[in-house]
Amino acid sequence: MEKKELLRVEHLKKYFHTPAGSLHAVDDVTFTVKTGETLGVVGESGCGKSTLGRVILRLHEPTAGRVFFEGYNILQYNKEQIKRLRRHMQIIFQDPFASLNPRMTVSETISEALVIQKLYSSRDQKGLRKRSLELMEMVGLAERLVNTYPHELDGGRRQRIGIARVLALNPKLIVCDEPVSALDVSLQAQILNLMQDLQDELGFTYLFITHDLSVVKHLSDDILVMYLGQMVEKAPTARLFENPLHPYTRALLSAIPVPDPDFDINRTILKGELTSPIEPAPGCRFAKRCPQARESCLGADIPFREIEDKHFVACGEI
Ligand SMILES: Nc1ncnc2c1ncn2[C@@H]1O[C@H](COP(=O)(O)OP(=O)(O)O)[C@@H](O)[C@H]1O
Ligand SMILES: [Mg+2]
Repeated sequence: MEKKELLRVEHLKKYFHTPAGSLHAVDDVTFTVKTGETLGVVGESGCGKSTLGRVILRLHEPTAGRVFFEGYNILQYNKEQIKRLRRHMQIIFQDPFASLNPRMTVSETISEALVIQKLYSSRDQKGLRKRSLELMEMVGLAERLVNTYPHELDGGRRQRIGIARVLALNPKLIVCDEPVSALDVSLQAQILNLMQDLQDELGFTYLFITHDLSVVKHLSDDILVMYLGQMVEKAPTARLFENPLHPYTRALLSAIPVPDPDFDINRTILKGELTSPIEPAPGCRFAKRCPQARESCLGADIPFREIEDKHFVACGEI
């Protein structure tokens, strides 16, 4: 059966006003994600991934474009409608510690989400406890941890609480913003496996944001590569790894997976000046760092073209 489209993003732009001019954080991004599938969004730090996720969740107002969720243009929603939408669109952050209340135990944290979204009454302590334990089991947190506080747990367990809190709402779309980037490699694999299992079981749709291509390789159906706010390449995951077309994608692929989230891929594999996202000139924003760049890459924007079935690239050389 053909899967249904859950999310459609059309010509989305988010420009920030800065003293130096307009900063093009997200610049004309278009894609769709089907129910139960995962779109990986990759690119270096600063390329606009988090901003993209935030605009889709309406945590930022976009400058232009449209976002359809289950066919409805949610950019037209009022505050009340957005509040209701929140339950269906959730976000998991890189550092759950920052979003967890240090004075709340595991079960209190999960219960709070259930109460805020009015799935349970705060008076229903028995029901809340039962559901919290169920959710803890689903994310692989042992029952004995029910009364522990975030600082008593390692990063992997903290991220499991973050996931449990999101699961509590049974959302349709989960934006995952670097959810494993703060974890060491063995914990990364455990959390990625958990997320995959939960998707298989519950049919979530993920927008999975990461600077590390190796993280989304096994999880994503499709991958979108961004560079300074723009889409440079999009393809089904296997295609992208077999036949990367954009010189920037190739550079990302040639990078050895680095477990340290603070590691700057930039300086290790790519040379040349980083174009500024403030008032960018027309043409390919990667051109200054691109080994294949020609004069024609600058001056006019490069169209994002379908080169083979479902494989899109914006490169003047191809
Ligand atoms: N609130 C903001 N005000 C101004 N500039 C911002 C703001 N948020 C992000 N930016 C800028 O937008 C660009 C994209 O940032 P971000 O979406 O965080 O990228 P990523 O998540 O890929 O690292 C960066 O140049 C960043 O400095
Ligand atoms: Mg980010």
